[in-house]
Amino acid sequence: MAIGIGLLGLGTVGAGVAQILASPEGRHPLVRELVLRRVAVRDLNRPRPIELDAALLSTDAAAVVADPAVEIVVEVMGGLEPARSLILAAIAAGKPVVTANKAVIARHGAEIAAAAAEKGVYVLMEAAVGGGIPILEPLKQSLGANRIERVSGIINGTTNYILSRMAEEGASYEAVLADAQALGYAEADPAADVQGGDAADKIAILAGLAYGGLVDRQAIPTEGIDQLQTRDIDYARELGFSVKLLAVAQRQGSDADGTEVLDVRVHPTLLPKDHPLAGVNGVNNAILVEGEPVGRVMFYGPGAGAGPTASAVVADILNIAAIRQVAGPSAQLDPLLAAGSWRRCRLVDSDLTQHRNYVRFQAADLPGVIGHIGSCFGAEEVSLQSIVQFESEGPGAEIVVITHAVEEARFRRALGAILARPEVEAITSCLRTL
Ligand code: NAP
Ligand code: HSE
Repeated sequence: MAIGIGLLGLGTVGAGVAQILASPEGRHPLVRELVLRRVAVRDLNRPRPIELDAALLSTDAAAVVADPAVEIVVEVMGGLEPARSLILAAIAAGKPVVTANKAVIARHGAEIAAAAAEKGVYVLMEAAVGGGIPILEPLKQSLGANRIERVSGIINGTTNYILSRMAEEGASYEAVLADAQALGYAEADPAADVQGGDAADKIAILAGLAYGGLVDRQAIPTEGIDQLQTRDIDYARELGFSVKLLAVAQRQGSDADGTEVLDVRVHPTLLPKDHPLAGVNGVNNAILVEGEPVGRVMFYGPGAGAGPTASAVVADILNIAAIRQVAGPSAQLDPLLAAGSWRRCRLVDSDLTQHRNYVRFQAADLPGVIGHIGSCFGAEEVSLQSIVQFESEGPGAEIVVITHAVEEARFRRALGAILARPEVEAITSCLRTL
């Protein structure tokens, strides 16, 4: 029985979805049942990588949602508005939604989830995190028996592609970013990728599913790769580390009322070369899930691009189509697939978290300067793994310190004391280390 699909967007991801629907041969037989009824675009004259009947295209996205022939709405237009309103309109019309839009889910997820629960429709979003990697469905279903300790990963393809090429070829940041845009990896505004916002949207979604409660997206400490200096990538390599944009959600404990306390953050991170995430290069993403009793599970694959993302979108459409075929359009929601919140979560005060750190100082090249820096750390009981002086480009010394795990507030106090020393000119970089 045919199932009508309304596609909102025919860009990188939308065209990938249309491509799969147009070529069902060799795929699951249910793909043949998915019929593209209407497609919303912004510009009817824009050249497309796939040829579609012109009568399918419209610039009226609300009309696509409202069309009675459209039974499942697939939102791949991106941005907050009109995407949010169109998703809510689809839900209000009793139509399930599949979206790849992490920005709208991370910011308006509570409103969308409440509307979907009330109407009894699915809103699925596998493509929103990790591109072609199945990670949301495993968190909701296959790993549902676990107490999740930590979810960490490389979840932005654009920045991983940039960092990999900078490290491997010494390529310039700007040139590689332009390549990532041309390849369809980057967001419409690539600031979301390079400033870490896209990864923060994704870790908010992952944390919400892993811990069963929404996290406050705006409160997630977020640092991108746009301020990262090639020098630090080079020094990190010399010291045995790769630099990756890491997103982490880690359980810290719980409040007396059962609220789960989480440390959720996004920042460039030095990973020891033998860490499982250190070898994840190019547009690939990887997510490590650590839970009890499963232990450590890693999900790896292409994190962006038309084909991988469309693979995840169509998988969600198939899930909904299969349920409709077996149980009809008004079947009750499967609570695991629908994944409603079941507890409250809050973010920890970041001063109380503990991390290893990499710090680079610019200092006068004088006898005793390394000793003074070491003493300031010692006075705050910050234990050091290494302290190394590198050849500086200009006058003075470049001193790189890697600490053991230390409470953030204590570490900041030590940095303050070091900066107050006359022979220390500046802290030129400060990065997290695993
Ligand atoms: P894109 O290439 O910019 O495509 C966006 C599409 O939406 C275009 O076809 C555009 O029409 C259409 N559109 C935008 N605003 C519209 C409006 N107001 N009315 C009608 N149509 C509108 O974006 P994309 O890369 O495919 O990304 C789409 C979504 O998927 C985003 O939420 C993104 O974060 C997410 N995502 C992307 C990737 C990836 O690798 N690219 C991976 C995972 C998730 P025109 O073509 O006429 O301009
Ligand atoms: N811009 C995103 C990225 C697309 O580079 O990871 C995939 O979500």
